Amino acid sequence: MLADIQNGITCQYSRGGDGTKGVIMVNGERQVDVVVAGHLCLDIIVTVTSPAESATELLAPGRLLLVEPAALSAGGAVGNTGAALRRLGLAVRLVGIVGDDAWGEATASCLHAIGPELTAGLRVARGQGSAYTVVINPPGIDRIFLHYSGPNDAFTTDEISLALLPTCRALHIGYPTLLKPLRADGGTSLATLLAEAQRQNVVTSLDMALFDAQSEASRTDWNVWLARVLPTVDLFVPSLEEAVLMLDPSLHADVKRRVAHDNFSCGVDGAFLSRVADQLLRYGARIVALKLGDQGIYVRTGSSLPASLLTATRDEGGMDGDRWCHREILAPCYVVHVVGTTGSGDCTAAGLLAALLNGLDPIAAVQCATAVGACSVEAADSTSGVRPWGDVRRRLAAGWAQSGVRIPLVGWQHDAATGVWCSPRDGQPNR
Ligand SMILES: Nc1ncnc2c1ncn2[C@@H]1O[C@H](COP(=O)(O)OP(=O)(O)OP(=O)(O)O)[C@@H](O)[C@H]1O
Ligand SMILES: [Mg+2]
Repeated sequence: MLADIQNGITCQYSRGGDGTKGVIMVNGERQVDVVVAGHLCLDIIVTVTSPAESATELLAPGRLLLVEPAALSAGGAVGNTGAALRRLGLAVRLVGIVGDDAWGEATASCLHAIGPELTAGLRVARGQGSAYTVVINPPGIDRIFLHYSGPNDAFTTDEISLALLPTCRALHIGYPTLLKPLRADGGTSLATLLAEAQRQNVVTSLDMALFDAQSEASRTDWNVWLARVLPTVDLFVPSLEEAVLMLDPSLHADVKRRVAHDNFSCGVDGAFLSRVADQLLRYGARIVALKLGDQGIYVRTGSSLPASLLTATRDEGGMDGDRWCHREILAPCYVVHVVGTTGSGDCTAAGLLAALLNGLDPIAAVQCATAVGACSVEAADSTSGVRPWGDVRRRLAAGWAQSGVRIPLVGWQHDAATGVWCSPRDGQPNR
């Protein structure tokens, strides 16, 4: 048994008989803010100091590259979004699998250092190597990832005990694009789980990860998958590039060609964002949030919010459902000294989820999301830059410069007070 005193609440984390799936219940109430489940790995972040003009020059055979001390952190949606939510001060329960090797121990120990309770729901896959990602960070060149998915290939929805649902306010899943069983069944098992979560008034949230055009994930019919899963998703928070790749691979290739090595989001305009989000809303998601890299975050909502979202909020007066309907807004990034962008998307998702659970309106929520994302890029690893929720709110309230937006937003209005852009359709039910 581990006891954790956080926000004045004492939670009991009891391990199941098999030593793996613990259940948190205190007087039958929801003691966990967010269960974060799915992809977990160890991030080994290597910053290269040797100069190189291109990736080809960097990885030329026979070169000895000089690097800085490696930054180790738990990664994947579980390691990043889970740890970010915990650093913001939420009560978090993680569900993921590690191997029984030194990498697995390192993954667990990174999480334990952030919150000892974070390791309670991890399962050790006996005899298997752990998942890891080597992030090669060369100066002035985009990052290169070496990824071993390990036990994530066996992650099924059975890992997530149904007994957890009555104990939590939100369930965040990432990333089905990298979790073989969750994509291979066309989304059936995930949709079943998320529908049950919604039935129990748990807010459902889903993030994705980019996959390679040559990988097995590219053979999934993602439109069929999204049509099945999104009706059970309250908050869908992929990056724009991930969303476009799933909806229309050839359109993705066109935009990629246009932007070359630039941010994918800089190859589109406001009307493009609307078309992507509208398709995701038609598939059934309630809130579509598209992360735009250094261009910030775009949020589009439909005509109604599920009951779970309205009942799960607290602290700042509860969520005003009407203010969340028919919204179309874009929040630029906050200006920071960029040290490393690894995991910034996951931290942005954590900020948005925390804002939703705190009952904030959409404008404040996108500000918080980009603020948490900005804190994340101030450190080389994913989450150590993320500060407690109150500090993020104070930093915002003190005034924080925002970057310009390079995405053409014809007809959109910029609100100088909040720094948020609103489309001509924002707040309009039938346009
Ligand atoms: N240079 C930057 N300055 C401030 N904030 C940033 C910067 N770059 C990214 N962010 C924040 O991080 C988020 C990352 O968005 P991105 O589209 O890269 O998500 P992602 O692809 O899911 O990222 P990840 O690599 O973590 O999976 C943005 O929405 C923004 O809030
Ligand atoms: Mg991401």
